[in-house]
Amino acid sequence: MSNELVPVLTKRWLSPNSWTMDTYEQLEGYQGLRKALGAQPDQLIELVKASGLRGRGGAGFPTGLKWSFIPQGDGKPHYLVINADEGEPGTCKDIPLMMADPHSLIEGCIITSYAIRANFCAIYVRGEVLHCIRRLNAAVQEAYAKGYLGKNILGSGFDLDIVVHAGAGAYICGEETALLDSLEGRRGQPRLKPPFPATSGLYASPTVVNNVETITSVPYIVLGGSDWFRAMGTEKSPGPKIYSISGHVEKPGQYEAPLGITLRELLEMAGGMKDGIPLKFWTPGGSSTPLFTAEHLDVPLDFEGAAAAGSMLGTTAVQVFNETVSVPWAVMKWTEFYKHESCGKCTPCREGTYWLTQILQRMCKGEGTAADIENLLDICDNILGRSFCALGDGAVSPITSGIKYFRHEFLALCEKNAEDSYEAFLAGASA
Ligand SMILES: Cc1cc2nc3c(=O)[nH]c(=O)nc-3n(C[C@H](O)[C@H](O)[C@H](O)COP(=O)(O)O)c2cc1C
Ligand code: SF4
Repeated sequence: MSNELVPVLTKRWLSPNSWTMDTYEQLEGYQGLRKALGAQPDQLIELVKASGLRGRGGAGFPTGLKWSFIPQGDGKPHYLVINADEGEPGTCKDIPLMMADPHSLIEGCIITSYAIRANFCAIYVRGEVLHCIRRLNAAVQEAYAKGYLGKNILGSGFDLDIVVHAGAGAYICGEETALLDSLEGRRGQPRLKPPFPATSGLYASPTVVNNVETITSVPYIVLGGSDWFRAMGTEKSPGPKIYSISGHVEKPGQYEAPLGITLRELLEMAGGMKDGIPLKFWTPGGSSTPLFTAEHLDVPLDFEGAAAAGSMLGTTAVQVFNETVSVPWAVMKWTEFYKHESCGKCTPCREGTYWLTQILQRMCKGEGTAADIENLLDICDNILGRSFCALGDGAVSPITSGIKYFRHEFLALCEKNAEDSYEAFLAGASA
């Protein structure tokens, strides 16, 4: 394992006009593609498997393995779909990546499509980020003009078209099967799995869905090799990662580091806690990942480390909160988000997030009752593992972890009301 902080994914971000074809080509751009087109598709799948690259969209599924599930010689069209929906609260790495270095994603898309034998790739971007959609479209046009896209790419005989598709800004459309429905022009709601997208994805054909950062890693692996990639990060979570740090730090932003870095180290890079006010709680990977506290400063932020400490790496959206923030209030705000974004397809999530919001809003108004904490936990229990997709599971994470570490704060909101009620009762009794 190496802990050197040498940027890989972000290495071009500070170059002048980093998003243009000229800059990209001057800085090793499309060299990985030239090398990849000289290999057999299966060799590329094996290379990515050997690199240990795991999905950067949240679940950490091994990327090479996912590609190998695509049936070969089946006579059906194959598709690559890039998940650029980036809706998880706190997550803001894919959009800066596409703004600063869109060609690295496009090069990754071409190599991946070649490996899985796809001739069509869609990049599904959330509709609100119009500036990013424009930049990606401009980069795609540049790539067509240079012969990196279209028919017979660089004389290889391989054809590929890329379409940038604007979503309409629904969090659920980041879930890969809801994304596919949305891409097909339907209302974005998750599909039953199995069948998985690898056999029945876009237009019921074999489809790979991967995150922006995952696919951007591919040209570097092709150029550097799997051993080079494995020299960064940890044994089971190799490679570089972009950590998005937001909240009460001096310098919020994107920080690239090898997987396995700790919050203590990230805070140093981000200039420490804002105004020196101590850390109270934080999310390691967005609001769907259980909260951590100041006790977890030295947890290695890789897939295994975050899980062993009781949370998840998620999207490495590190949201940092200082001692001034009320945990029940923050939890209420997140729960309002999940209630709003619940697609309504299944009862536990649709009804549960509604009731969770009602209770938390009441508690935060100082009108909690003695039964509220147990009711919250009971509803969470009825959502976790019983919902149709992972949005429901994610919705309960802030609540159960918030109560686990800061029960006294939730209790205080209920006790205050219990005392008030008791005083009112006494006042009534003596009247
Ligand atoms: C509610 C929900 C929202 C999601 N949003 C995103 C997203 O915005 N971007 C993303 O890459 N993955 C998102 N995912 C995960 C995708 O379903 C899928 O696992 C991922 O795109 C696979 O890519 P990867 O293997 O490269 O990580 C979301 C999952 C859920 C349940
Ligand atoms: S868990 Fe929520 S978002 Fe997922 S299908 Fe059910 S209602 Fe829709």
